[in-house]
Amino acid sequence: MSLAGKRVLLIISGGIAAYKALELIRLLTKADCGVTCVLTKAGAQFVTPLSLQALSGAKIYTDLFSLTDESEMGHIELSRAADLVVVVPASADILAKMAAGLADDLATTLLLATDKQVLVVPAMNVRMWEHAATQANLATLTKRGVAIVPPDEGPMACGEFGPGRLAEPPVILAAIARMLGAGGPLAAKHALVTSGPTHEPIDPVRYLGNRSSGKQGHAIAAALAALGAKVTLVSGPVSIPDPLGVSVVHVETALEMLAAVQEALPADVAVCAAAVADWRVETLAAHKIKKTGSAPPALTLTENPDILRIISMPGPRRPKLVVGFAAETENLYIHAAAKRQRKGCDWIIANNVGGTGIMGGDSNEVTLINHAGEEIWPIMDKHEVAQKLAALIAQEVA
Ligand code: C5P
Repeated sequence: MSLAGKRVLLIISGGIAAYKALELIRLLTKADCGVTCVLTKAGAQFVTPLSLQALSGAKIYTDLFSLTDESEMGHIELSRAADLVVVVPASADILAKMAAGLADDLATTLLLATDKQVLVVPAMNVRMWEHAATQANLATLTKRGVAIVPPDEGPMACGEFGPGRLAEPPVILAAIARMLGAGGPLAAKHALVTSGPTHEPIDPVRYLGNRSSGKQGHAIAAALAALGAKVTLVSGPVSIPDPLGVSVVHVETALEMLAAVQEALPADVAVCAAAVADWRVETLAAHKIKKTGSAPPALTLTENPDILRIISMPGPRRPKLVVGFAAETENLYIHAAAKRQRKGCDWIIANNVGGTGIMGGDSNEVTLINHAGEEIWPIMDKHEVAQKLAALIAQEVA
């Protein structure tokens, strides 16, 4: 992705997430985007002007009343020279000042004086985020046309859990790129994702199923869309909402999932996160099976098609990158690496579902296995796993 010729005015306000602004500057400069940084007094408690200057390669502005700064480039000029004003992280305090129209330092004066589009990326403690005042301030800002990349949910530096973590830098970059008229790193790419369980009917009221919640697959679909991809999500029966900005095909059985996947191909990348039932009942009973005689009924099972293996078959419709999942309860690497070979996919995301709470839970501990070997990721929130995976996919297929 190239943002050559574009300039972002990056305001860094106070918060532990300010260190992630450094990674964002690196990504922006890598995309040839010019970055001018304004550091608030509170922001300077978390990152130094020196590290910002080293990464952006430009002067850092911190003080509204510096005569030298004003004579070199007035604060109005700073905003004129930018194509977009971005606040990362946006603290509860700076959001409140923006909503109230306060201008008591360089950052807030710029935000009041600018006629450019503004993007805020909040990060704060979960209760500050959920406070009615913060939500009212955000609603005011949204009404005024300020764009927001909402915070992620997960464990936070303050030791609490919930929404409030700064969005990952590649996601912020994609939002910036979209606002600057460029697509994200996956713009013009089609991603196909399968998610959730399948339900294999036994009779009109019963089915065979599994504990998959669809949380991981849905988060991956959302993360790929956030990087600019056109995403088709083929989802089994789940009780979570459809992700925004993704086209969702709802299916019930493995056979329906295969048909929907074949309909959605071709794709540049396929991620098979669904927990597809390995077997279905051979003959579906037309009516509810009754508890008649003493012996329970015997179900004859037949094998379901392996969707991942079918997608991975060589041919003109094979996606450039096929990613499978392997839920294992023992010998994780050996079993998952063998699965990668057997199915013919490029990457396998292996996870140990031996512990309680992984399947259907909010966090995941995974190992990425590809031709180069294995990479063990620390235990993370499923949204975080999705964003890390989407960023790697972008590097591979973009
Ligand atoms: O064989 P196993 O079910 O452990 O393999 C898991 C991987 O294969 C997952 O990526 C899953 O989505 C995919 N799969 C599939 N179709 C099946 C069974 C598994 O796509 N019938």
